[in-house]
Amino acid sequence: MAFDIEMIKKVYGSMAERVDKARGLVGRPLTLSEKILYSHLWDGTPTRAFTRGKDYVDFAPDRVACQDATAQMALLQFMHAGKSKVAVPTTVHCDHLIQAKIDAKADLKRAKEQSNEVFDFLSSISNKYGIGFWKPGAGIIHQVVLENYAFPGGMMIGTDSHTVNAGGLGMVAIGVGGADAVDVMSGMAWELKFPKLIGVKLTGKLSGWTAPKDVILKVAGILTVKGGTGAIIEYFGEGARAMSCTGKATICNMGAEVGATTSTFGYDESMDRYLRGTNRADVADAAAAMAPYLTADPEVYANPEQYFDQLIEINLSELEPHLNGPFTPDLATPISKMREEAIKNDWPLNIEVGLIGSCTNSSYEDISRSESLAKQAVAKKLKPKSKFTITPGSELVRYTIERDGFINTFDNIGATVFANACGPCIGMWDREGAEKEERNTIVHSFNRNFSKRADGNPNTLAFVGSPELVTALAIAGDLGFNPMTDKLINEDGEEVMLDEPTGWELPPKGFSVEDAGYQAPAEDGSKVQVVVSPASERLQLLAPFEPWNGQNITGARLLIKAFGKCTTDHISMAGPWLRFRGHLDNISNNMLIGAVNAFNMKTNSVKNQLTGAYDAVPAVQRAYKAAGIPSVVVGDHNYGEGSSREHAAMEPRHLGVRVVLVKSFARIHETNLKKQGMLALTFNDEADYDKIQENDIFNFVDLKEFAPGKPITIEVIHDNGTTDTIIANHSYNEGQIGWFVAGSALNLIAAAGAA
Ligand code: F3S
Repeated sequence: MAFDIEMIKKVYGSMAERVDKARGLVGRPLTLSEKILYSHLWDGTPTRAFTRGKDYVDFAPDRVACQDATAQMALLQFMHAGKSKVAVPTTVHCDHLIQAKIDAKADLKRAKEQSNEVFDFLSSISNKYGIGFWKPGAGIIHQVVLENYAFPGGMMIGTDSHTVNAGGLGMVAIGVGGADAVDVMSGMAWELKFPKLIGVKLTGKLSGWTAPKDVILKVAGILTVKGGTGAIIEYFGEGARAMSCTGKATICNMGAEVGATTSTFGYDESMDRYLRGTNRADVADAAAAMAPYLTADPEVYANPEQYFDQLIEINLSELEPHLNGPFTPDLATPISKMREEAIKNDWPLNIEVGLIGSCTNSSYEDISRSESLAKQAVAKKLKPKSKFTITPGSELVRYTIERDGFINTFDNIGATVFANACGPCIGMWDREGAEKEERNTIVHSFNRNFSKRADGNPNTLAFVGSPELVTALAIAGDLGFNPMTDKLINEDGEEVMLDEPTGWELPPKGFSVEDAGYQAPAEDGSKVQVVVSPASERLQLLAPFEPWNGQNITGARLLIKAFGKCTTDHISMAGPWLRFRGHLDNISNNMLIGAVNAFNMKTNSVKNQLTGAYDAVPAVQRAYKAAGIPSVVVGDHNYGEGSSREHAAMEPRHLGVRVVLVKSFARIHETNLKKQGMLALTFNDEADYDKIQENDIFNFVDLKEFAPGKPITIEVIHDNGTTDTIIANHSYNEGQIGWFVAGSALNLIAAAGAA
């Protein structure tokens, strides 16, 4: 139902030729990552070798996946591309908007009431444009993708940073912003800087209490949260081959925590078993026939130091279970050192809650190993000291573990099963008492543990571990407990130890499910209506942005001269504003409210040049817009760094800002501004930033001659009557100038489709 074997065969059909050609061009054996990248070039067969970490390359991903929070604006924009269908297979997954509070049933019911209009919108727009739709309760995007869509050697993008999870099935899967998803869904190329490569050689074999999660916890400790930036991490070695496919996915999932572009593993028998176990024998057969192309050339893994930019080696036989945290996923502590570290750092030893599951760790294997411990707890008369929750990753897993009696076992230790959704993993956990902000410790098998991430309480110390370790710790209720050496006292006052966890890689009786929660799109979507109530607070259909009138922009007012760091969070804040992600006008009320005004060093306080009064940035900009006056935002270095959030470019465009003039841009934000039809300029002389004054008026005197490589001249008129003439550079190519002229990239695509 849900996967596309024809598409996969097409990818494999051209792979051998492309990889062989690339090997010749590069002039040496290829890593797996390179094989996947070179076989997904937008221009088809490679014609040149690329420099890692330097060249920007256009790619053609095979799939797109969107989660419910980011899909809203992406699909609202896609409507303007003038297409009847998405250009590549795409799915939407309702998982982020479901809050965990009571249990799966009650929480799902409440979420459907609260976010009904968003779910209905996503369902109808998916139906119309040929997008597979996974309903609320169907599961978490990454688990569902692994079970249904991921395939060895494929390339996909997803509007969530943990899209990288699909690397467990040998993909190059990358988390992107909504704007990138819109490009690919609309049939445009997707650009990425050719990544650097980090090799991780896994020797030995996991055993006992050690789990795949411990591999990535160890890697995070080595690389730190920034160590993987701009790189693909490629795992290999006997230890990798001996590990389950879902274990590999866990490792890839948390590659996001070291900043890696993505992580991946070469095709092996564990992937074959998983594909067959999830009812995809045809994909398994197709992959088996391509096996040499779905892993690195043998010379690479024999002499990895020659082919990777960085190499890490981990002996799994010596690896100890780890707990990472608090507040950062790279603070790695082996369990044998935890008590000492906790006492030294004054971390509360008493564990309030243990949480397992999430997109990171909710495979059948994970849950079965945890269940083996829960069963022991009952048999050994150990009553868990901490609360315990389970967040299954998909209905397929939930139904199967219920059938196999696991949920019953968890019930016996008083556990709560939350909905198949993100819940506590993304801060959607309405935890009782969290508002009191008491200092406390929790342990979980998720991926992130930043302050407030799970329950909104800045004083919750969250430690990340494998599901089996989290279960053992929840039974003990003690952060310093080492299940390999420590005894527990049971209800009869006896000393007992927990035996090593045991489990199954895949369900011995196979997976089953009654209703996986999938809605296939209509064959012909042309009659499907996408309904958005004009009264909605959360959704708003977009109107196309106005095309450029061909005239110089004159009389533009300064909206804000931002001082210092101005990230996409400063430009479009998250938190409570996420609620309005599908409503451009409402979310625009957060525009630049986090940016510091260089003239008064305050946030969200700028001078309205029409009245002389200070007001909130969005309010002042709305006043300029109402008066038909264009405006300019001035910024410092690396303006727009952070996420690829397209709202940070759409909001100023919507409210009538015409130009962003800065010392330098973060590249993705600069591209996003261009795509939305804005003028993104940089000072030719950085010192000109200092010439900008609070009451300045700007004339872009030669914009009519806008051309690639040609600087733009700006007259800056100060209120003392003097004028400075400054030169601004831009990086628009011919095609991007076309976006500016048309009003946005999507306007241009729509016009081309209509022509
Ligand atoms: Fe992300 Fe966790 Fe959901 S990392 S997709 S939030 S379960």
